[in-house]
Amino acid sequence: PSSGNITIDPLKIVAEELKFLNKNIRQLLGSGHPILDTVAKYYTQSEGKHVRPLLVLLMSRATAFAAKQPRPDTPNLSDTNIDMPISSPTVLYDNNPDQTSPSSPLTETPKEARYAFPDDATILPSQRRLAEITELIHTASLLHDDVIDHSTTRRSAPSANTAFGNKMAVLAGDFMLGRASVALARLRDPEVVELLATVIANLVEGEFMQLKNTASDEKYPAWSEQTITYYLQKTYLKSASLISKSCRAAALLGQCAPSVVEAAYSYGKNLGLAFQLVDDMLDYTVSGSELGKPAGADLELGLATAPLLFAWRSRPELGQLVGRKFSGEGDVERAREIVIQSDGLEQTRALAQEYADKAIASISFFPAGEAKDGLEEMCVKVMKRRK
Ligand code: FPP
Ligand code: MG
Ligand code: MG
Repeated sequence: PSSGNITIDPLKIVAEELKFLNKNIRQLLGSGHPILDTVAKYYTQSEGKHVRPLLVLLMSRATAFAAKQPRPDTPNLSDTNIDMPISSPTVLYDNNPDQTSPSSPLTETPKEARYAFPDDATILPSQRRLAEITELIHTASLLHDDVIDHSTTRRSAPSANTAFGNKMAVLAGDFMLGRASVALARLRDPEVVELLATVIANLVEGEFMQLKNTASDEKYPAWSEQTITYYLQKTYLKSASLISKSCRAAALLGQCAPSVVEAAYSYGKNLGLAFQLVDDMLDYTVSGSELGKPAGADLELGLATAPLLFAWRSRPELGQLVGRKFSGEGDVERAREIVIQSDGLEQTRALAQEYADKAIASISFFPAGEAKDGLEEMCVKVMKRRK
């Protein structure tokens, strides 16, 4: 954490690596179909926060000098594997109906398509690639999410569904997952493949849990401890799974000892939960122009998130509104009023703080250094963020 007048900027610590992120991602997304190429690369034009790649890179550096335990069945690959072309720079399907694969691993990599990374031995090329894969999976989920949520803006610009329509947005998301999977397979690490494949399934499971506020579907649900348990489980699947499992994967690629792998996972899980709790709080407290995406969207979508769930405990009349997903006349406004008057937002912040503290505690035994400071600072920043 920033102590005294020393300020820690996590972005600066891995700036060299992040500089190449967008270029490498765009390379992974190249398609011979010009429109697909445009839609797939659309969200890489606007400025994302790159939270997930940032965490993977910081975790990779922070664990570089932690305890190691080589995993016998993973070949320690050189960059050559990563360098194999994934996308073809030429037009696909051009008078060639047999061309089902855009590239063959046997073709020579054109110079301009070579994987770009700085000359720094602390972060492995496979860990850098993992950072790119996490951003691809996240962006794919946003493409789908904006369709599901009917969102019109994302990253302070028209959302992809608004700019290109639902069909193309969904397909571009699928394409991204496909390319992310190819890149993942090229890491030749089955455990890491399994982790990230599980993340994709978890994102869908979380989204499904969100469609229903509870496991049952009552008209007049009553508040119980289960309400919060269900919400936290959903939140893990929707948000913390990607962060925690990619932190774990970074440690695995770095051949870290099991205790370090577990710590990386625990850090990611707790930070991920804190991150989403704050996200759900900001939906109530910050304007859409500041967020760069619609604010107050959750209630409009019929979603009861942490601030409301905590408010509901002391204001049982919210149950009826939850039951009909705030679809009645004036429900959204009434629910918002009750939440603002209650201590729901404060309780949400307090719970987020607990998770952020747990994240910091998880990595307390990591060797001291800039990257560890950066990971700790991320926990401070998550609590302070306004977008
Ligand atoms: C943003 O949440 C969305 C997610 C964190 C995940 C959404 C997951 C899916 C749509 C499942 C399908 C995904 C894949 C990869 C197959 P939000 O709507 O609360 O946040 P927002 O305010 O940024 O829109
Ligand atoms: Mg959304
Ligand atoms: Mg959503």
